[in-house]
Amino acid sequence: MTFSQEILNKIDSIIKRYPEGKQKSALIPILHLIQETGTNSLTTEQMDEVANILDILPIEVYEVATFYTMFNLKPVGKFVLEICQTGPCMLKGSDQIIEYVKKKLNIENGQTTPDGLFTLKLAECLGACGYAPMMQLGKTYQEFLTEEKIDQILEDCRKSASLAV
Ligand code: FES
Repeated sequence: MTFSQEILNKIDSIIKRYPEGKQKSALIPILHLIQETGTNSLTTEQMDEVANILDILPIEVYEVATFYTMFNLKPVGKFVLEICQTGPCMLKGSDQIIEYVKKKLNIENGQTTPDGLFTLKLAECLGACGYAPMMQLGKTYQEFLTEEKIDQILEDCRKSASLAV
């Protein structure tokens, strides 16, 4: 058993939102729940247990978890910088922003800083092209990015991490 009773109760209440026989519809909110209440990533064991609970094949869970970039399949930092690299953001300078972040944090795409704070994850269009260049940071969108804005965002993250200790 991977999940605590508390998590199992929450999973159960998510499943109940959907009509009988349509429990597979609960998959995405359940994966969000598990990711948010854990280490910000999903393990194979957790995904297998979700498949078992929903009475679907493990591959059906893997397909969803690997399709959406918001699910992390390996451990990530406390803050995941998902910088959009698609056309409109690129035209507005996302390449420079990405290079700046890489240099500043000394990490490449998919890597996490040694202090476990930041992970860089390049993303495809996040539907906020009018605010380019942009990135997703947790549940927020950070828009019209500049190097100065990146400095400020990283500093704010560091502050909030130190307050949480
Ligand atoms: Fe970046 Fe659409 S291209 S949000």
